[in-house]
Amino acid sequence: MNTERTVHIITYGCQMNLRDGEVAGDILESAGFTLSAEPSSADVIIVLTCAVREHASVRALGRIKDLSRHLRTNPHLLLAMGGCLAQTEVERIRREAPFVGLIFGTGQLPDLPRLIEQALNTEETVLATEIAENSFHLPPTTGRRRGAVNGFIAIMRGCNNCCSYCIVPAARGPEHYRPAQEIIAEAENLVQDGFKQVTLIGQNVNAWSDGGLSFAELLRQTARRSGVPRLRFVTSHPRSLNDELIEVMADEKNICSSLHLPLQSGSNKILQAMGRGYTAEEYLLLVRRLQKAIPNITLTTDLMVGFPQENEQDFSDTLRMVQEVPFDGAFTFKYSPRKGTRATEISEILSEAEKVERLQALIAKTQEVGLRQNQKRLGVRYLALIEGADRRGGSLGRLESNHPIIIAEKLPPGTFVEVVVTGVTAWTLRGKPAEENSSEEIIALHTQTPKAQHG
Ligand code: 5AD
Ligand code: SF4
Repeated sequence: MNTERTVHIITYGCQMNLRDGEVAGDILESAGFTLSAEPSSADVIIVLTCAVREHASVRALGRIKDLSRHLRTNPHLLLAMGGCLAQTEVERIRREAPFVGLIFGTGQLPDLPRLIEQALNTEETVLATEIAENSFHLPPTTGRRRGAVNGFIAIMRGCNNCCSYCIVPAARGPEHYRPAQEIIAEAENLVQDGFKQVTLIGQNVNAWSDGGLSFAELLRQTARRSGVPRLRFVTSHPRSLNDELIEVMADEKNICSSLHLPLQSGSNKILQAMGRGYTAEEYLLLVRRLQKAIPNITLTTDLMVGFPQENEQDFSDTLRMVQEVPFDGAFTFKYSPRKGTRATEISEILSEAEKVERLQALIAKTQEVGLRQNQKRLGVRYLALIEGADRRGGSLGRLESNHPIIIAEKLPPGTFVEVVVTGVTAWTLRGKPAEENSSEEIIALHTQTPKAQHG
């Protein structure tokens, strides 16, 4: 289409959005655009936004306002906004950032080259935010990805759940699944390209299906056929995580024994008001089944405080669950009302200060529990995948459990190194390469070791 233009892409939000940023880059490159790492020299700057909480929306709008200063030196610059905020709050973007020349939705990536050309040739703001009814085909891109160790494969788009607080169904539309063969082929390509860890991503991966094939079977086939050393998946909904999936996780040695399982709240009253579809007791039973089948499993979660009508008792139910599971890590959030979601119809009983206080107490609890979990790892030997360099000239690795580990030595990215844990925080570990024949306990040394023996 053109051979001259340069594009700079900035992405906020979740793995899905980050992957969309990569896909957008590939689509634009194929259309003749050149990707630029520098906003100042670009002809087009795209910000892929997140709308999950107000804070995310404010950040994305702040960034685009900041970028608008480049218009002074380059009046032909096109500033474009895509992603979840663009999908859900067109009017707000037009009001707060009237200089934005293109606002496109989460389903418009394949059309991006044409939309950019159109926006570059008109003074008007181009709007393209309708959610396509037909399945948006995700290009099985290869090429440029973040680093060369971790590959992310989007296996689906959208979300059919209707959690009462969540903007995602409005921002990303109903679920569409990619065909199994395409996903498996993409994983095989990543392995051929030297990637060591593949993560299957989607808003609700357990819901994926293709004909009669379930997500569990997709996971099994991807693990076996690609042979990738480490296979992960996010995000799972507790309601649809079944025994078939637990069995596959326990059986397949290259599926990592770590799971992100958003709980949100420990109170049944709040879980019901959120529309989560499970009780705290059912969640705990699920955790016990997982722990029984996969004894060394690490569990992380998402938790929210300050949901409308959350009282002291509801909040202490959440604190109790953190202790009871216990979680290795948790993302903690303060409820943020999102326009158009059902939760905004429930009256709020908490002041901002009370919400902040609960958030701080929850963070303290999750850190205390995370630290206690990690203290058991001190002196233990693990296999770390080196993902890159850390800021101080050492290396950043990751354990099968998903814990990041900082190692003082410089080690080649993409290699597996036996390490001994020498220091712990609530989530991140420190370690050193293990000496041969040392007496440290050997845990998870090879992804091939039967999981039941990891203990
Ligand atoms: N307010 C606060 N947190 C939210 N999340 C989703 N929507 C909201 C909201 N309106 C959190 C949930 C979800 C994570 C990605 O973000 O915990 O699991
Ligand atoms: Fe943010 Fe949710 Fe959109 Fe991801 S799907 S970018 S978390 S609003």
